[in-house]
Amino acid sequence: MKWLSDFSLQGQRVLLRADFNVPLKDNGDVADDFRIRATLPTMEYILSRGGKLIIISHLGDPEGLCSERLSMQNVKEKLEQHLKVPVEFMKDCVGRETKERVKNMQEGEVLLLENLRFHKEEEENDKGFAKELAGLGEVYINDAFGVAHRKHASVVGVPALLSSAGGLLLKKEIEGLQKLLKDPERPMVAIVGGRKIESKLPVIDRIAKLADEVLLGNLLANEIEQKGTVLRYKDKIVFPPDGLPGGGKEYDIGPETTKMYQEKVRAAKTVFWSGPLGKYEDEQYAEGSKAVAEAIVEDTSYAVAGGGNLLDFLGRYGLRDKFDHISTGGSSMLAFLAGEELPGLKALGYYD
Ligand code: 3PG
Repeated sequence: MKWLSDFSLQGQRVLLRADFNVPLKDNGDVADDFRIRATLPTMEYILSRGGKLIIISHLGDPEGLCSERLSMQNVKEKLEQHLKVPVEFMKDCVGRETKERVKNMQEGEVLLLENLRFHKEEEENDKGFAKELAGLGEVYINDAFGVAHRKHASVVGVPALLSSAGGLLLKKEIEGLQKLLKDPERPMVAIVGGRKIESKLPVIDRIAKLADEVLLGNLLANEIEQKGTVLRYKDKIVFPPDGLPGGGKEYDIGPETTKMYQEKVRAAKTVFWSGPLGKYEDEQYAEGSKAVAEAIVEDTSYAVAGGGNLLDFLGRYGLRDKFDHISTGGSSMLAFLAGEELPGLKALGYYD
């Protein structure tokens, strides 16, 4: 597999698949620019080597329809603020106007193309659409780890047609997560919070296979108990012994659980965390997650966290930077940890 540094980018049109699928505020402004900042090293590298930068991304799931709310235009200002160079927005990711504009690009220029998913052909991995996208660049760089589990045109179709390589963020993600897979320092403890057991059950099974113990959040534990869900590695699963506010309405872990989880993560050498432990949006129920997070960052040798809600929680309390690796991926991260072959990585030759 090739990496960004394997190419001479001088004067080249570099088509960068980024994952700028960021949370938005009601007024359309970017609510959390973590994914934009995480992609900065790749963008800066391309520009510093004299590349012409063409950025493609999806935002939300518009299902093939145009929507003002999900326009990449909403991301442009934040991108400019971080890149510190002007960014030109193109109102379609394909079509004649975009094709002509890219042909006239100068070194150091940056184009941000409209949401890929405004075309249903993106999710359908349509060959014609991939060809149109590929025609925009001379080199394709994939830095969109968050979407590496998707078999979409910009993820798998384009690299089949252009010289392609992984970007710096993609590399960082793979290296950061590999450390959990390849001989992690033990004991390794995983924490799985969040809600909706249907979506979390595969995660619990996958993680339990890797870790020595899996600590559950209360919302999830309640659901498992109520539904009588069968867990594959049940001997490794730790249920919270108490919750708050109690009486069958546990929105957070209770004091006994907090103490026990803190002790377990303090004793662990490796921690992987997916999903907050309580209803953290409500400040009064964020205490358990906060206490456990603080114990992790104080004492664990190698700590990894990922997933949208957990990132939001850690961001609110200024705890993100204290983890060794924060993944920009949600489902892609879990699929990678489960040892699944990710189409986006396969398309770059990662498994060859
Ligand atoms: C994510 O937010 O996990 C990625 O951007 C992928 O988004 P998707 O689930 O809409 O494909």
